[in-house]
Amino acid sequence: MKKTIVTGIKPTGKVHLGNYIGAIKPALELAKNKDYQPVYFIADYHGLTKIHNGEELRDLSYGIAATWIALGLDPAQFIFYRQSDVPEIFELNWILSCFASKGLLNRAHAYKSMVDANQQAGRDPDTGVNIGLFTYPVLMAADILLFKSSLVPVGKDQQQHVEIARDIAEVFNKAYGDTFHLPTPKIEKDSSVILGLDGRKMSKSYNNTIPLFEESKKLKKLINKIKTDSLPPEAPKDPDSSTIFSLYKQFAEEAETKDFHDRLLKGIGWGEAKQELFQVMDRFLSEPREKYHELISSPAQLDDILTAGADKARNIAAPFLKEIRGKVGL
Ligand code: ADP
Ligand code: TRP
Repeated sequence: MKKTIVTGIKPTGKVHLGNYIGAIKPALELAKNKDYQPVYFIADYHGLTKIHNGEELRDLSYGIAATWIALGLDPAQFIFYRQSDVPEIFELNWILSCFASKGLLNRAHAYKSMVDANQQAGRDPDTGVNIGLFTYPVLMAADILLFKSSLVPVGKDQQQHVEIARDIAEVFNKAYGDTFHLPTPKIEKDSSVILGLDGRKMSKSYNNTIPLFEESKKLKKLINKIKTDSLPPEAPKDPDSSTIFSLYKQFAEEAETKDFHDRLLKGIGWGEAKQELFQVMDRFLSEPREKYHELISSPAQLDDILTAGADKARNIAAPFLKEIRGKVGL
């Protein structure tokens, strides 16, 4: 029996380098292991907590789908779908919400950080918080538990949500006997937080991202904008605290990385370092970028792929949901 790995990305913006390095790249690496069945999806219901424009949400969803495929996801080998095409997830979401304590969700970071920001600004704590955002971790638990996932490759900020899924599974299992697998988050140590142009965590929320499939010229411009210290060119640089190096090593060969590391230590100018970063990135990204644009211009083809993926997902989800409904007395 293969073990299942589940991960999703919500369509709330263009995929950026942080998403790629923190989530997509490790998930694609993990999927190379033949002992695993990858179940990867577009978390459009999660996206709806934030994006309130139909056309935009639909386009962003296509963008995420095209990104995964352009980077090497093979729809024949993976189970790959749009979350909203698998109604069983949503039904399980309700069932699980009856086992999730409100206190647990009060502590969930997406909600908590909004409350904290409101309080700091002297606003009502729940300003701008919709119930979808509040119960976000329950839906995420349904995504994970419905497919009996063992491993969940995510960035560090999602660790807490996977732990909440575990907690909910434990409460359920205690009441009805062994039903759900307890998932473990799989976090890439090396790349836990990719920093953005301004030195804060790269995030759509901070507007400091480098989109993964930016055109060459724009990519070069953005790389030049990455904040660096003001040491003179010949001064030794610390590779391990440098965003330039942390990005470089994700796209370069091992020998190139070692050489770059040594040269930073000896001292090269940031301008030159950025130029080299651009070269390795553009070399790696040019082919997937082209494929991405090709896919994005043919949404019907993406729909076919995603619909076939949803059928595969439902074949697994439906019998398990039936079992769960039976256990709880529905
Ligand atoms: P954003 O912060 O831009 O809204 P998301 O919350 O949609 O990104 O994250 C999608 C995935 O990418 C998650 O698994 C998340 O942990 C990962 N991720 C996002 N930003 C980074 C980053 N700067 N470094 C590493 N991983 C990241
Ligand atoms: N919450 C995740 C994020 O913001 C996306 C997500 C939704 C997810 N459901 C999931 C990730 C299930 C892993 C497993 O990035």
